Amino acid sequence: MGEAKRPLAVVTGASSGIGADFARVLAARGHDCVITARREDRLRALAAELEKDHGAHVTVIAADLGEPSGASRLADAVFALGRPVKFLVNNAGFGVHGDFVEQDPARLAQMMQLNMVSLTELTHRFSQHMVAHGGGKILQVASVGAFQPSPYYAVYSATKAYVRDFSQAANWELRDKGVSITTICPGLTRTEFHEVADHIKPKSMDALMMDARTVAEIGVRAAERGRATVTPGLANKLMEWMIKWWTPRWVATAMAGISMRPGAKKAAPAAPAREQPERPQPEA
Ligand SMILES: NC(=O)c1ccc[n+]([C@@H]2O[C@H](COP(=O)([O-])OP(=O)(O)OC[C@H]3O[C@@H](n4cnc5c(N)ncnc54)[C@H](OP(=O)(O)O)[C@@H]3O)[C@@H](O)[C@H]2O)c1
Repeated sequence: MGEAKRPLAVVTGASSGIGADFARVLAARGHDCVITARREDRLRALAAELEKDHGAHVTVIAADLGEPSGASRLADAVFALGRPVKFLVNNAGFGVHGDFVEQDPARLAQMMQLNMVSLTELTHRFSQHMVAHGGGKILQVASVGAFQPSPYYAVYSATKAYVRDFSQAANWELRDKGVSITTICPGLTRTEFHEVADHIKPKSMDALMMDARTVAEIGVRAAERGRATVTPGLANKLMEWMIKWWTPRWVATAMAGISMRPGAKKAAPAAPAREQPERPQPEA
């Protein structure tokens, strides 16, 4: 194939935030990209940007990974391109903030499907593919929320603890097979995440936020080096270190509960959650 000289990377959740910057970083480092999410218009605009700025060949596949069949349909559509995939970024994800008992069970189920089940299925399909095609890199996006139980993000932080534990274990199993799995645990990052999670933060938190491009660059570099885990940013590293070595789990849980409590954070009425796009069909 003409365009097959550049290695191929797949990025989920590339229509905004850290995912769009993962695609930018990978394209700048010489990859062709498959970019996926539900909002196809955003993906097409990003594809045009990557082709213009980096000469990357970009394939857009619209897919809803919050649906049980989403991951297998996406994997089938990628493998139908007939090119070896060298880099997978499992980035798509969202959070639901607020009192657990008041949360919509359908939205929690969609979140668990996206953050855990689809991520696991994609990791399985693509690691098999990479083992059979001379190796590759997988980058999983967890969160600092994976370090301790987080009241008011109870289900979300548990999905990220799953991502972290599962990915570290699978990475160990794959260590002799040419495939590495790196887990990145970002802290507060300037993206649409907080709006989607319906979590209004005080202005004072802005100063703590990292920008998405920096997080994406740190993640891609760590994956290229085959690191098992990476936590971007000094404040996040410090928090990880404190929780791991100095803070009893009940204290860490209580601290997370105090800082995440909706009444403590909400300066204004909740913003409406992002409207869910129509579920598009992936290209065959
Ligand atoms: N921002 C933070 O502070 C922060 C901190 C720690 C971890 N993270 C993690 O970072 C990752 C990226 O989030 P972000 O901060 O960049 O937020 P974001 O700007 O809201 O991006 C989320 C991405 O996931 C996609 N997505 C959501 N639901 C989907 C579905 N059902 N099917 C397919 N794609 C879906 C979205 O695209 P569509 O809506 O177009 O489908 C979007 O591209 C997430 O896993 C998040 O948990 C973020």
